[in-house]
Amino acid sequence: MNIGIVGAGGIGTRHAQAYAKHPKSDVAAVCDVDAERAARLADAHGARAFTSIADMLSGGIDLAACSVCTKGEENGGDHYAPTMELLEAGIPVLGEKPISNRIDEGRKMVELAASKGLPYGINLNHRFTPAAERAKDWVESGRLGTLHMIGMTMWIDNPVETSPWFHIRALHPHSIDVMRYFAGDVRRVAAFFMKGEGRAIWSNAKIVFEFAGGMIGSLTGSYDAGGGFGLETCDVTGSKGRFLLEEACQRLTFHTRESREAETFHFLGGMLGFNETFDSRIGRWVDQLDQGVPPERIDASGMDALQAQLVIEACVRSFERSEVVEVASL
Ligand SMILES: NC(=O)c1ccc[n+]([C@@H]2O[C@H](COP(=O)([O-])OP(=O)(O)OC[C@H]3O[C@@H](n4cnc5c(N)ncnc54)[C@H](O)[C@@H]3O)[C@@H](O)[C@H]2O)c1
Repeated sequence: MNIGIVGAGGIGTRHAQAYAKHPKSDVAAVCDVDAERAARLADAHGARAFTSIADMLSGGIDLAACSVCTKGEENGGDHYAPTMELLEAGIPVLGEKPISNRIDEGRKMVELAASKGLPYGINLNHRFTPAAERAKDWVESGRLGTLHMIGMTMWIDNPVETSPWFHIRALHPHSIDVMRYFAGDVRRVAAFFMKGEGRAIWSNAKIVFEFAGGMIGSLTGSYDAGGGFGLETCDVTGSKGRFLLEEACQRLTFHTRESREAETFHFLGGMLGFNETFDSRIGRWVDQLDQGVPPERIDASGMDALQAQLVIEACVRSFERSEVVEVASL
């Protein structure tokens, strides 16, 4: 499959490396408004460089799909225009997170992909680990019994101060997607934020969730962490047992309610760290395109990303109004 990369920054480079590793995909085109960046990444992959989507689309390359790795305000403000142009032209898109920092634009991209019957995925890569998939199997096979609670922590050090809601909008599409992966749709949220020492933005968050299926949960998030804090943990508790998933892929433990015996897996599937999730997520995208998986069954779809963004906006509203807020339905 010929793949186009739109946005040749650090993350576009990572996407390109993942496509190059997959036996069924090659990077055939790179498009960046910065000609030097486009040329550098294109040269690394023997691909052609473009500075506009229109030129790339009329360049005579039979593109099977494109990754959109632009950035913009709150890390998602620039995805809309190139994504719409590609979808209008009938090209499947794998976008970066957040799908958009604006719900109306996120909704339009999801609607356009659906109306054209096109696969539209988002790089919500944290759930694409063998450990998360094993935990999901346990949930679905009933090993945990009736699901009761989920706890999620995701924190990094990010000193960027560009907007008040940058932390929740840019980082937490990931954590909320992992929570939705295990617990389903979110019905209501109650959110609290605080500004870390010396910060102008809401860089710390504690949020309580009620899920449509009846579970309850909480999210701890921060842009004032890093170092020995780790990146993330997720635990799910049910009537029969509990799992604890550490660092997305590094350690997965199952505890039964009946005894002290525990089962622990380290580095399941040989995955050593979060960086490898670009390969696993993009590999799944290529495999699903290759298998002709229907657009509504694409893993970590545009719709999933839009749902996560709706949860985020409900959190903002909850804090601003000091209220428990229902997540807007689509
Ligand atoms: N999934 C993850 O784990 C993860 C991790 C970090 C960042 N990200 C996301 O990756 C995205 C990109 O981040 P980055 O650090 O690589 O950004 P970046 O700013 O380094 O690169 C973005 C590139 O897009 C180009 N660009 C902007 N508008 C364009 C357009 N209309 N057409 C073509 N090119 C255009 C810019 O010139 C720039 O080179 C962000 O949305 C960010 O949130 C995801």
